[in-house]
Amino acid sequence: MPADLISKTVMKELAARAAGADNAKGNKRVKEVTERLLYRLMQVIDECDVSMDEFWAAVGLLTKTAKNNEFGLMIPGVALEHFLDLRLDEAERLAGINGGTTRTIEGPLYVAGAPLTTGEARMDDGTDPGEVLIISGTVRGEDGNAIPGAIVDVWHANSKGGYSFIDGEQAPYNLRRRIATDSKGRYLARSIVPNGYGCPPESATRELMNLLGRHAERPAHVHYFISAPGYRQLTTQFNFTGDKYLYTDFAFGTREELIVTLERIKSPDEIRKAGLNKPFARATFDIVLTKETAQAPSTIVNREHVIAA
Ligand SMILES: [Fe+2]
Repeated sequence: MPADLISKTVMKELAARAAGADNAKGNKRVKEVTERLLYRLMQVIDECDVSMDEFWAAVGLLTKTAKNNEFGLMIPGVALEHFLDLRLDEAERLAGINGGTTRTIEGPLYVAGAPLTTGEARMDDGTDPGEVLIISGTVRGEDGNAIPGAIVDVWHANSKGGYSFIDGEQAPYNLRRRIATDSKGRYLARSIVPNGYGCPPESATRELMNLLGRHAERPAHVHYFISAPGYRQLTTQFNFTGDKYLYTDFAFGTREELIVTLERIKSPDEIRKAGLNKPFARATFDIVLTKETAQAPSTIVNREHVIAA
């Protein structure tokens, strides 16, 4: 079939009718967005001469995505989660917010309700043979003042790239902790250096990445939510210098300001002071929160998670 068979007017009218534009009932917002989505989708089908087989293959891939509960993986894989971040960055800039630690994607694997301690936490259960990682930092406002009592919610993969609750090999909440900052705004987490991970071999997301000629891997990273009364909640993560996939993260999560260089600690004195008996890695990740304002969209995102707490 040739491309461009249908006039724009026909597509526009059909999309409007399908979205209920000719009635006053339903949800105005859903109708507005549905009409535009359908019109653009019809245009793509017509412009690219999408065959019926191709169309239903795409529906099949989306069906598989839903059955596997992997839209949380597919969305960052096609850059849409990062795109939402870019929009929020721009909305904040227009609202006069310029400082603060850079945000990046939440990703699909957050589980709420991790154990809460003050000042410091040990995140691993002692069974992971990986390299010990000590993360420390201070949470401050833009004025430079420390924020005591900020909640630093941290989660990351183990040395095999697996997450507790997901890989079935780890105890619940392993490598997931909430740490309330101490009186000087500090937090300290003892954990294990995480590994990166890829989309599951049979996943619809990997299938799409293969079709796009892209890999489906993420560099190692540590996820954060940071919140404190009167401040905008921050969703972010940090990566490690030198990671093979640092600049090609399939989920578009890497941002230059969020790359941390691990310090390898070998001095016996420092090892002893840290309460350890072998060399370890140290990372510093300080956080700056911006003041809450009604002028910018909320940074608290309501979304379904793979594992409900
Ligand atoms: Fe992750």
